[in-house]
Amino acid sequence: MPAIVLVGAQWGDEGKGKATDLLGSSVDYVVKFNGGNNAGHTIVIDGEKYALHLLPSGILTPGCTPVIGNGVVVDLSVLFEEIDALNARGVDTSRLVVSANAHLIPSYNRVLDKVTERFLGSRRLGTTGRGIGPTYADKMSRIGIRVQDLFDEKILRAKIEGALDIKNQVLVKIYNRRAIEVDEVVEELLTYAERLRPMVADTGLLLSNALDEGKTVLFEAGQATLLDVDHGTYPFVTSSNATSAGACTGSGVPPTRIDRVIAILKAYSTRVGEGPFPTELHDEMGDRLRDVGAEFGTTTGRPRRCGWVDAVVGRYATRVNGVTDFVVTKLDVLTGLETIPVCVAYDVNGVRHDEMPVSQSDFHHAVPVYEELPGWSEDISGCRTFEDLPVNAQRYIERLEELIGARISTVGVGPGREATIERHSLLG
Ligand code: GDP
Ligand code: IMO
Ligand code: MG
Repeated sequence: MPAIVLVGAQWGDEGKGKATDLLGSSVDYVVKFNGGNNAGHTIVIDGEKYALHLLPSGILTPGCTPVIGNGVVVDLSVLFEEIDALNARGVDTSRLVVSANAHLIPSYNRVLDKVTERFLGSRRLGTTGRGIGPTYADKMSRIGIRVQDLFDEKILRAKIEGALDIKNQVLVKIYNRRAIEVDEVVEELLTYAERLRPMVADTGLLLSNALDEGKTVLFEAGQATLLDVDHGTYPFVTSSNATSAGACTGSGVPPTRIDRVIAILKAYSTRVGEGPFPTELHDEMGDRLRDVGAEFGTTTGRPRRCGWVDAVVGRYATRVNGVTDFVVTKLDVLTGLETIPVCVAYDVNGVRHDEMPVSQSDFHHAVPVYEELPGWSEDISGCRTFEDLPVNAQRYIERLEELIGARISTVGVGPGREATIERHSLLG
């Protein structure tokens, strides 16, 4: 049985949550391996809407074990808020397992994320303000606080003291903020320790054993390819590896064990926050995509920037992630358009680029080269087979498949579980 990685192909919010949920019943473990509560996944089951941030989407599938891997940054207040909210709706969360090596988001990093953004002014990144960047920075600087530190108060206090020695200088002297007390942070974190303790495990070992036993493990990325700290539109990225390779470092499962990589691609493009976006629409068409696609952030409620699908980005995602299968989502949102432009290349100062430009400045100046495909007017939300789709919708998928260089196995035609067309099995 396979180990499957599921990633976003664009700038996030492609519908990863729905795709994970679709696979749910065939999967024994769902692992979140990067990011934290900057993610926002909306899942609709029998008309009921669930918004998940920190918990892996597999939590909604009975019998599936959700795992928070070592690559995740955990805000404990959010973790227990989400657990309580799901329990109140009758969802069983008792199988949740959390890596002892995952890093915690202490309150000072939430403060620093927000004040840094304010300080940057027009140079801001548009972060979610959840403390993600400062917490990953601490991890790399080796001053981070890990889940396991909660169970040794002396160590916890010493580490927080060490971190606050630096952070308070920054808060007070650069940002003119009040200093944060060590006790305040230690006490807040310790309030969660006993509730967390039974969930904590060596998740790398757990997952390796599960694979040895023939279980199916799904690694679910937060964010997406172009938000990856190494392969995205740096510096307008998140601070973790959201591409498929991150599934290994973020879980302790090696690359030789991964069987399939599924990428989720929205039938158009969206982006939240700052940064380059060649196919962005600043006109009524952009507003139309936002309205029809309900493109408002699940986490921050910000309106998402909208534009046409970008096959250069799709092809890049195929290469960087080693995609075996694509899920194209939200095809229904394109219904009613006379023609649909698809970006096939960029023009950068008169030079055609078929691949992502190597320089970020060139990407900022990339002008899309469009191919116009004929649209369709029929409501497709009830289509359940590829042949049910109007011929122009079929052509749109087939042309996209050619351009991005990997097969499109599933097509989404609505937010609900049932609004899905399966062309090939995602499980291989
Ligand atoms: P994620 O962060 O990648 O999990 O995606 P989000 O949940 O942030 O955003 C995707 C949105 O699209 C959610 O509101 C989903 O319910 C919705 N969605 C997913 N697939 C489809 C689809 O095929 N059609 C439509 N209309 N909505 C979809
Ligand atoms: P899901 O998993 C879309 C964006 C933020 C900002 C940048 C850095 O739902 O697809 P951060 O708070 O991570 O330091 O912000 O990354 N961003 C997302 N955009 N979907 C997400 O998650 C995102 N997570 C972070 O808007 O531009
Ligand atoms: Mg989202």
